[in-house]
Amino acid sequence: MLGEKITARAHTNIALVKYWGKENEELIIPANSSLSLTLDEFYTDTSVQFDESLSSDEVTLNDKVVDDKKITKFMDIIRQKANIHTFARIESTNHVPTSAGLASSASAYAALAAAGSKAYGINLSKKDLSRLARRGSGSATRSIFGGFAAWNKGTDDESSYGYSIEDPVKMDVNMIAIILDNQPKKISSRKGMKISIETSPYYQSWIQQTTGDFQTIEAAIKENDFTTLGKTAELNAMRMHSLTLSSDPSYLYINADSLEVINMVKELRGNGIECYYTMDAGPNVKIICQSDKISAITDKLSDKFSNDQIKVSGPGEGIKYL
Ligand code: PMV
Repeated sequence: MLGEKITARAHTNIALVKYWGKENEELIIPANSSLSLTLDEFYTDTSVQFDESLSSDEVTLNDKVVDDKKITKFMDIIRQKANIHTFARIESTNHVPTSAGLASSASAYAALAAAGSKAYGINLSKKDLSRLARRGSGSATRSIFGGFAAWNKGTDDESSYGYSIEDPVKMDVNMIAIILDNQPKKISSRKGMKISIETSPYYQSWIQQTTGDFQTIEAAIKENDFTTLGKTAELNAMRMHSLTLSSDPSYLYINADSLEVINMVKELRGNGIECYYTMDAGPNVKIICQSDKISAITDKLSDKFSNDQIKVSGPGEGIKYL
């Protein structure tokens, strides 16, 4: 028997308040709540169709056949819920540089959760879809929602879910991603988080600080206060990266090119062009700015980087079926 082929599109999100550390590795329960902006330029389209003639899941990513145990493990969660034990054909196209700190796993697992659950005949609410997406990748929890979204930390599978903070977004806010390296990262976020939580002496103060940052950014969104949002997001990102430096062994996602972009942002700011930076588990830098500053920032960036390394994006929408 052949199931219906279901296709879903999910956009990536960039955290303004980062998730860094798990309380439960198996269920992916985070140590802190996080908050993000979903982006319209970067997304993943995934289709799922179960087929009784298959003896294992058949996965193609950007037209290449891949053997990914994480995907099969994730599909097993769906199969168990649906009580259908047939394997599936999964086709995924990523409009995001894979594993380069641009959160491709966020859009990938959000799209797979949506297409996979529906293909196996389960209709989930957005909250339950976010809980399912969480099992694939923590940041995917937030990619079910458009605009500003959050992931409530919770304490178990039931209470750890994503929700919308504001969609559509009222604030004039954009992100400029500077692609410095599109190779898969050397230290996965999973591994990095584990080293930080186990060895950084600053981990407890990160938890306290990040809880405050969440409240500050949530209030800034409600008050349409771009300056507070940008400043706090930048601080939060650097506080996360300081956990990598203070771990044993220490590690670093920031490279020389990242530093160059950070210095450019500071220089632009010094010249009255308001903008802020954030970074995830890779060297790419994302600049947060308002629409009237985009051309001044991209002009400056083009002194050093090529046009195809600079990607401007506004807020994106939540999960949808194609
Ligand atoms: O979802 P993961 O395991 O790829 O971890 C994401 C970690 C950060 O991107 C650095 C922060 C975040 O909240 O997205």
